[in-house]
Amino acid sequence: MSVRTRTAILISGRGSNMASLLGAASAPDYPAEISLVLSNRPDAGGIARAQDAGIATRIVDHKAYPDREAFEQAMDAALVEAGIEIVCLAGFMRVLTPWFVRRWEGRMINIHPSILPLFRGTQTHRQALEAGVRVHGCTVHFVVPELDAGPIIAQACVPVYPGDDEAALAARVLVEEHRIYPQALAEVASGQALLRDGRCVFRTG
Ligand code: GRF
Repeated sequence: MSVRTRTAILISGRGSNMASLLGAASAPDYPAEISLVLSNRPDAGGIARAQDAGIATRIVDHKAYPDREAFEQAMDAALVEAGIEIVCLAGFMRVLTPWFVRRWEGRMINIHPSILPLFRGTQTHRQALEAGVRVHGCTVHFVVPELDAGPIIAQACVPVYPGDDEAALAARVLVEEHRIYPQALAEVASGQALLRDGRCVFRTG
């Protein structure tokens, strides 16, 4: 039996990307196992979904800590205690300090709802509609200290149709998020995709 890479998913909300990763990881030959779902928000909908799937969960409520560093130290301790090797951010809505990012560098990935480097930050679907782009999409990338600037592992595009509003566009992008995030995690967990000298490199063969 092959050893699967112990993976944590960090969430703040409904957890639909988390659910897509859990679904992929339920296949016996998937290279990552989801060992922990951690939320900074006690009321995150994704926590109940993870518990229903029989996954260990942890709440590390940022409001319970005096500052960002103390919050991140508590998260880091929870991850280390669970023997985590890879961290997936999936709708995790806290900006991480360089300290935390460096601790997990090359081992932490994120899904962002735009074709990076376009439309960093929040409200990416509104940004896309305001820019008038005809294609939009999503990106999985390694996390680096600069927000939404890490080396790209995978991307997918969707068309932007006349008459689209933010909700319609978000729903179209989300379908692609759920497709590419499990693929990208598989590549990282199996060692096919890795962060080297500030780039994502792919091993072939
Ligand atoms: C997704 O669009 C993700 O790309 C962004 O936040 C949203 C989270 O949705 N970072 P969900 O909690 O995975 O359903």
